[in-house]
Amino acid sequence: MDFQKIVFASRNKGKITEIREMLAPFNIEVLSALDLNLPDVEETGATFEENAKIKALSATRATGLVALGDDSGLCVNALNGRPGVYSARYAPQRNFELGMQKLLDDIAQSGSDDRSAYFACTLVLAFPNGQTQTFEGRVDGIIGQSPRGSGGFGYDPLFLPLGQDKSFAELSADYKNKTSHRARAMAKFLDYLRHN
Ligand code: IMP
Repeated sequence: MDFQKIVFASRNKGKITEIREMLAPFNIEVLSALDLNLPDVEETGATFEENAKIKALSATRATGLVALGDDSGLCVNALNGRPGVYSARYAPQRNFELGMQKLLDDIAQSGSDDRSAYFACTLVLAFPNGQTQTFEGRVDGIIGQSPRGSGGFGYDPLFLPLGQDKSFAELSADYKNKTSHRARAMAKFLDYLRHN
């Protein structure tokens, strides 16, 4: 499949930067919902896939271009998978300093010493004719004792991917862009483009 331009259906600057960096070698121009000033859509879905589909379909309808939606979040085992699809809304006033503190408080209150967690990302590619394709990625890790590092975005300072003693916010952007939940979903998307 060959197209030069795609709309990334997100206003999240952290996600937009990562998707642009990942697609740069493939000569695909990424316009974002932020650049095009597309209206925010309500995430009424119960799953990452439902929400990613809502975002992608809304962007392809608004622009007539192929669109990619991303819904993602942090699933913490001590909290039975929360905040999950509610990761953005879980942070008070969408402030992730407060969100990370809330996460640490909730884990402490759970009484569990299980620090395992994973980031999940579902990308949905939507075509102007309404067809969609779904790609999923996940990265496992543990929740640190306190936020560390200044890279990345969202909950990155609290997430230590398995095998690393540094958080995603301390590791390089290049490392995150090759190993993250989003990178893994993106690898499946690129594979689909190659074969279709
Ligand atoms: P949504 O997909 O727009 O609902 O937002 C997902 C939320 O999950 C983000 O606002 C972040 O809080 C969190 N999240 C998703 N991906 C990442 C990531 O790569 N790093 C850190 N936080 C993330």
